[in-house]
Amino acid sequence: MFTDGFLGYRTSFMLDFVVCALVLIVPLLVYSLWLVKVKKNFTAHKWLQVALGIILLIAVGAFEIDLQVVHGGWENIVQKSHPDEAALAAKVAEARPYLWVHLLFAVTTPFLWFSTLILALKRFPSPPTTGVHSRTHKTLGWLSTIDITLTAVTGLVFYYVAFMTP
Ligand code: HEM
Repeated sequence: MFTDGFLGYRTSFMLDFVVCALVLIVPLLVYSLWLVKVKKNFTAHKWLQVALGIILLIAVGAFEIDLQVVHGGWENIVQKSHPDEAALAAKVAEARPYLWVHLLFAVTTPFLWFSTLILALKRFPSPPTTGVHSRTHKTLGWLSTIDITLTAVTGLVFYYVAFMTP
């Protein structure tokens, strides 16, 4: 299939796929929050959040397998555009701090996301409506929303530094 990804840089198909998923998730989350806050359509919000959770789990799982097992780490993808050993070392050193910042958010997001989801599914009635779990859910929900947005922003910055700049 695509050996170099489809966004025009020397990356991998799954890396470009996850970048697109991260860009798409932010407007979908805004839409989900609009459904809750403006439309008071709790059921649509519930199913959209469940769907986003499943899509994220599959996308990130496939991405990790591709990155770690198929390519043997992100440095090997950087090597495609930096075959020279010294240039590769310089690029990896430049991009690594951006990756650490990204990982801070990327590692905490799934834990927060799934606790928010599981607690909401267990503690809200079906069909969902305002209740005793609302306060906790709003706190967890906003933390998850902020965490995934920062995961997306820092992931895009890392992609830019590691793969888009010479
Ligand atoms: C990780 C998944 C989820 C996230 C990030 C999330 C996020 C949020 C946020 C930020 C709010 C607060 C909006 C405001 O400030 O008024 C909210 C409200 C709400 N959510 Fe979720 N949500 C998720 C999953 C769910 C699920 C699975 C259900 C149902 C089982 C649900 C039901 C509700 C309800 C009923 C409210 C309204 C609470 C109230 O105003 O009393 N959410 N959600």
